Amino acid sequence: MRNVQAVHAFVEKHRRRRQSNKVLHGHPSPTHWLERDIAMPEVLRARARANQEIPKRVNLYVGTPYCLPTEPDRCGFCLFPSEIYTGRRQLDEYLEYLEREGDMFRDHFAGTELASIYFGGGTSNLYKTDQYPRLMEIVRGVFDIPPQIEVTLEGIPQTFSHDKLLAMQQSGMTRISMGVQVLDDELIKASGRKQRADQVFQTLEWCAALGLPASVDLIFGWPKQTIEQMVRDLETIAATGVTHITHYELNVAGRTDFARHRRGELPSTEENLEMYRIGKTVLEARGYTQVTPYDFERQDANLPSSYLYEELFRRPFQTDGNGPIGFDAWGWGYAGISFFFGTPRSPGWAFMNQVRIDEYFRCIREHRFPVMRGFHYTPPDLRLHLLFQELQGLGVDRAAYRRFFGLDVVEEHETVWTAFGDLGWVRVSDDRVTVLGDGVFYLPLIQNALAYDRLMQMRKKQPATTVSVPEPMPVLAAPATPAVQTRE
Ligand SMILES: C[S@@+](CC[C@H](N)C(=O)[O-])C[C@H]1O[C@@H](n2cnc3c(N)ncnc32)[C@H](O)[C@@H]1O
Ligand code: SF4
Repeated sequence: MRNVQAVHAFVEKHRRRRQSNKVLHGHPSPTHWLERDIAMPEVLRARARANQEIPKRVNLYVGTPYCLPTEPDRCGFCLFPSEIYTGRRQLDEYLEYLEREGDMFRDHFAGTELASIYFGGGTSNLYKTDQYPRLMEIVRGVFDIPPQIEVTLEGIPQTFSHDKLLAMQQSGMTRISMGVQVLDDELIKASGRKQRADQVFQTLEWCAALGLPASVDLIFGWPKQTIEQMVRDLETIAATGVTHITHYELNVAGRTDFARHRRGELPSTEENLEMYRIGKTVLEARGYTQVTPYDFERQDANLPSSYLYEELFRRPFQTDGNGPIGFDAWGWGYAGISFFFGTPRSPGWAFMNQVRIDEYFRCIREHRFPVMRGFHYTPPDLRLHLLFQELQGLGVDRAAYRRFFGLDVVEEHETVWTAFGDLGWVRVSDDRVTVLGDGVFYLPLIQNALAYDRLMQMRKKQPATTVSVPEPMPVLAAPATPAVQTRE
């Protein structure tokens, strides 16, 4: 941006707009991933070449397309691609295709070390007990699964059972992530999700008895939600002793029921800011430490797993005893999102798989990679992407940035840091840029300001697009999952 005043004007223009505050997991957002017909063999060869310079481990995300039907559709708020679940046959068929997609990538991933595995969706706990070992077998068909690796499976409260959790654990899954969203029955009704609070507690009890670490996703800023309801939910979940809680601000967008019919019932951005502040205070008072704008961890817990998948997503380039090392993400399956970073001088690609199940199946039947579209990073885009990811961890290590990019992140974005420093949202020190106070809630505004000039350039070059692709959501996502409207 031109100068500090321009950044302040940008903040004033956008800070009250609800949709300005969507968490940004990377740059650019998938709205800009417009390259089709990507030559995957060349992308994979480029990945192999880049890995000779900076070796990469892989964070594996395995998607499942299906969700229980709800009224309103898609839980009223969900921006993730999904297909309606009608029965086991769909899952068996999907697993066959997943395996076939794995066959296409096997040779390219030969010798690649896995860093973590995340089964997300959609709803990954719709599988029956005998299908969890099958899922792990399919992964083993492509990768060696190292011992001690973190393997997470994400699901909804009403479709966990003791038998399933046992099957998950016996097949090698080490952590459960449960999407609770809210506990209050009246609020849950608005989403059409047929879940009850007792199913949440029962699942957490089973996990504790089995020694399976569990994390819980909650959303605040729900239509008609009061601060009292939010605090009650947080206190109730914290009292279960769960070691990780995500507390996302509801993202309202697209053609969801909430966006179309419930806008008038939503708290304003200022009210959401108040909810964020109070939520953070409540969780910190109960021994949780904030690690991202929305992740809170109990670090007193003696965890067999360390939430590695999310952690590595925030720090894709690190250094080990042998020098620099990177972490690519491969999104395997329906709607999977992949980041093959390349190197700072020769950046790689981000791409997403098909978000319509029939298209996904068709590509595989025709022996084509099931990739829908993607983005070829330029060096400045890769720098912004990695900066966005680091900022998810609430700060940037200046020396690490300099080591990888040969640039000082403070000099590169001087006006932006100065303006946000004036607001008390950012602090620059010799070794770090740290995001502070309300700046954590407004991190998307900081990210948008950092990328402003580059996005303007890109918009000028791109033709207007009719593709409806809101921002990717948190682990979210799995961190790597896009939000794309598919069910019409
Ligand atoms: C796509 S869901 C998949 C997990 C599972 N199907 C469920 O519904 O819990 C993953 C997480 O994304 C978050 N999420 C989905 N849509 C969201 C939205 N519109 N705003 C904020 N968070 C959202 C939820 O917290 C959810 O637990
Ligand atoms: S919130 Fe979860 S269950 Fe609901 S539609 Fe989205 S992915 Fe499916």
